[in-house]
Amino acid sequence: MIIPEFIKNLKPYVPGRPIEEIQKEYGLKTIHKIASNENPLGPSPKAVEAMLSVASGLNRYPDIGALELRGKIAEKFNVKIENIAVGNGSEGIMANILRSFLCEGDEMITSKATFIGFQVLARGRANKFIEVPMNHEDYKFDLNAILKHINQKTKVIYLCNPNNPTGTIFTKSEFDDFIKNVPENVLVIMDEAYFEYAEDKTEYPDSLQYRLDNVITLRTFSKIYGIAGARIGYGFGHKELMETIMKVKLPFEPGNMAQAGAVAALDDVEFIDKSKKLNKDGYEYFLAELGKISGEKNFKVIPSYANFLMLDLGNPERVNKINESFLKEGVIIRPLIAFGLPHCIRITMGLNEENEAFINSFKKFI
Ligand SMILES: Cc1ncc(COP(=O)(O)O)c(C=O)c1O
Repeated sequence: MIIPEFIKNLKPYVPGRPIEEIQKEYGLKTIHKIASNENPLGPSPKAVEAMLSVASGLNRYPDIGALELRGKIAEKFNVKIENIAVGNGSEGIMANILRSFLCEGDEMITSKATFIGFQVLARGRANKFIEVPMNHEDYKFDLNAILKHINQKTKVIYLCNPNNPTGTIFTKSEFDDFIKNVPENVLVIMDEAYFEYAEDKTEYPDSLQYRLDNVITLRTFSKIYGIAGARIGYGFGHKELMETIMKVKLPFEPGNMAQAGAVAALDDVEFIDKSKKLNKDGYEYFLAELGKISGEKNFKVIPSYANFLMLDLGNPERVNKINESFLKEGVIIRPLIAFGLPHCIRITMGLNEENEAFINSFKKFI
């Protein structure tokens, strides 16, 4: 069997470590997992109820066109159903975008220190993939540098806003300056997995509002809606692009439980509001507590627009030591070596008691 070189060299996606694994390794009862940007409140209760109610119909295949869900999304965001695609998570849609539009010789551009899931998908193709360095002072995408890398072969640009793992955004005016310089035949993927945490900020560009023919906006039910395990995401874009993605996707993705859960989750306003509030409170708590010691202990807190926060600890040794100490105490955080930031860690805003556990341990170890 001949395996292509780019597949042989592919490094698989490394997720945050699972709770059960850490429990076993360190003999711990209680674990606080604030590593994977999941909703600490659990899944949307309305989604769970809807998913259970369709479980008895699991012998049937799901609706290929996901019409009920797409109709609901269309209504909520005031777009036409033909401008919406769905898939097995927003990552599933990303995979379908690459399958749909990349031809031999086409190139892709993104930034360093962004979502690894896209990097894995991009490297799983024979196409050239360019990662442009970030602005190192503020950990933001360097959109001007990305523009400079566009050439005749560029087909796809991947942007993540707010960005995982830095939590930073590019603003409306930065996006405006960027997009007007992107040729119309270059497809821009705007990954807005953390949209709901940033949407209330006036400087945040909601890419859906631009209605651009060469931009696909991706969102997910994995974050604020809390159904990451169901694997369902959605995208907005030009009719022709969305039709293509829907044609190329696995016929029966997403599954019928996922579709039912997503339909119900969209209506779970109470849960979304509660999740936003918990996140905001957690963020303010972290900023206040970490702000008190960051000068003296020599680390940086990077302001975040998402449900997680990045800390720059200065060097990889410090990250490794602190990560190991945290694991022993049953707190799972995310060291960012795999993102090319070995001197940084990422923490997800958790429940109040999880946030307190983090702060107490952090003060001890730092
Ligand atoms: C920026 C970003 N995009 C996409 C995803 C994956 O989303 P989904 O579960 O919808 O595939 C994540 C998950 O961590 C993410 O951080």
